[in-house]
Amino acid sequence: MKFTLQANDPLSKARAGTVTTAHGDIQTPIFMPVGTAGTVKAVHQRELKEDIEAQIILGNTYHLYLRPGLDVLEGAGGLHKFIGWDRPILTDSGGYQVYSLSKVNKIKEEGVTFRSHIDGSKHLFSPEYAMDIQRTIGADIIMAFDECTPYPCDYKYAANSINMTHRWLRRCCARFDSTEPKYGFDQTLFPIVQGSVYKDLRMKSAEFIASMDREGNAIGGLSVGEPAEEMYGMTEVVCDILPADKPRYLMGVGTPINILENIALGVDMFDCVMPTRNARNGMLFTRNGIINIGNKKWADDFSPIDAESDLYADQVYSKAYLRHLMHSKEMLGAQIATLHNLHFYLWLVKEAREKIISGEFYAWKNKMVTILGNKL
Ligand code: GUN
Repeated sequence: MKFTLQANDPLSKARAGTVTTAHGDIQTPIFMPVGTAGTVKAVHQRELKEDIEAQIILGNTYHLYLRPGLDVLEGAGGLHKFIGWDRPILTDSGGYQVYSLSKVNKIKEEGVTFRSHIDGSKHLFSPEYAMDIQRTIGADIIMAFDECTPYPCDYKYAANSINMTHRWLRRCCARFDSTEPKYGFDQTLFPIVQGSVYKDLRMKSAEFIASMDREGNAIGGLSVGEPAEEMYGMTEVVCDILPADKPRYLMGVGTPINILENIALGVDMFDCVMPTRNARNGMLFTRNGIINIGNKKWADDFSPIDAESDLYADQVYSKAYLRHLMHSKEMLGAQIATLHNLHFYLWLVKEAREKIISGEFYAWKNKMVTILGNKL
C-alpha cells in the first residue's frame, strides 16, 4: 500500500491524497460504504461501481466468519472473488461487532469469547485469530483487534483498556508479519487508537500507535454516544500525533457534518452504516439537509428525488413514487433510497477533495455545515 498527498488546505488540516492498493487507487478524503456480510445492503456491486462510483467497500470479520464461514471464503478464492468486486476492500476486525452484536461472555488477555447472534454457538476471537481470519477473507486493508470502549466509560477502565488494546496490537502485528497473504496480493494492517474521551489517554494511545509504524492508522471508540464536540476534540489531538504521511481512518463516523468537520481535522477515510441503514427507514440525505420521504407532504410531489444530483435514480424517479414504494414496503424503495444516500455521501467527499485541491475547502465546509445543520 502507498499513500501520496496531493494537497493540504491552507486554512484547516484537511488533505487530499491517494491510497494505492493492489485493487486500485482510493482518492481521499473518502467514504467507504459498509458491506457487512459481503453486500452493501440493497445495492448491486455493478451499481456500486457505476452509479455510486464507490472506490472501496467494507466487510466485517465477525459476520463473514460466522456466515458463510472461512471454508466457503477460502474456496471462493477470497472475498473479492466471492462477491464479484475487484476494487479495494477493508475489513473490520470484529473488535467492535463482538461487543455490539454478540453476547460477550468474557474479555480476557487472551481474547474475547462470545456467542453468535445467529445460533448461539460459542467462539473465541484472539488478536492472532482475527489476523488469520482476515488473511482468509483477503481484504486489502485489515484492522487490528481492539476493544472499543462504550460511552460513558470511566477513566480507569479506559486506561486499562488502551493498555490491553496496545498489547493486542503487538500480537496482531507479530501474527500479521509472520504470515503470508493467501491470494497473491498484498494486504496491510491498520492499528486503532482508543482512549475514550480522555485527552491524555488518546495522546498516549496515538503515540503508541504511531510508534508501531504501520502503513495507515485508525481512530476508534468514537461516535458511540458522546457529544460531537467531544468527538472533534479527540480527533484533533489524535490527528496531531498520527504521522501526516499516512492515511488516517476514523471508524464508524458519521453524519455529513461529522464527516466535514473531521476532514477539516485531518481525517482521510470514513465508514458508517448511517446512509444505508437510514435509507431503509426513508431518511434521505440531501445537499439541503435531511428529508423523510415517508412524510405525507411528498405524497403528490412528482418532482425528481434530487434534481441537483446526477444519479440516474434521483433523476428518473419522483419523490411521490419513492414515498409510495417505502409505504408499500416494496424492496425497490430501499434500493433507490440507498443508492441516493450513498451517492450523496460520495458526492460530499468528492466535493471536499476538489475544494481542498482548489484551496477553497474551509469556506465551503463552513457553508455546507450551516446549510446541512439548519435543515436538521
Ligand atoms: N467501528 C467503529 N468504531 C470501532 C472501533 O473502535 N473499533 C473497531 N474495531 N471497529 C470500530
